[in-house]
Amino acid sequence: MAITFTLNGAQQSVDASPDTPLLWVLRDHLGFTGTKYGCGIAQCGACTVHLDGAAIRSCSFPISAAEGKSVTTIEGNAIDAIGSVVAKSWEELAVVQCGYCQSGQIMSATALLRDNPNPDDAAIDAAMSGNLCRCATYQRVRAAIKHAATELA
Ligand code: FES
Ligand code: FES
Repeated sequence: MAITFTLNGAQQSVDASPDTPLLWVLRDHLGFTGTKYGCGIAQCGACTVHLDGAAIRSCSFPISAAEGKSVTTIEGNAIDAIGSVVAKSWEELAVVQCGYCQSGQIMSATALLRDNPNPDDAAIDAAMSGNLCRCATYQRVRAAIKHAATELA
């Protein structure tokens, strides 16, 4: 079944079973491997992308539900006005350790700052609690979000 959606600003049409997770379409059909597989059951956040600007877990999102919608991955987030500031903040504060969870962290942080330009600790914790990091970069993630909020103000 052909499914058409916008990916990082460009129209894409893929032939896939309707229940194929968006994550596998991104990685296997289209070669966008910046979005990572962690748990496959919407529990770790490694696969986070944006659907019409909102953070979703692509491992548990059927491609059929993306029909006609706009998907942004980490590869496209850098050209987003907020996403580019978030990425720069991540770099300046040296957030990344192994890196595996970080595209998901950045996508969740970008969605948070789009909804809430000046989040406090509680808002950051609420928005980021679904993004797990085995390297425990949580303090630097929080600091980078605050730094990005300052830069965007
Ligand atoms: S791989 Fe999707 S939430 Fe873990
Ligand atoms: S930086 Fe290693 S899992 Fe998060």
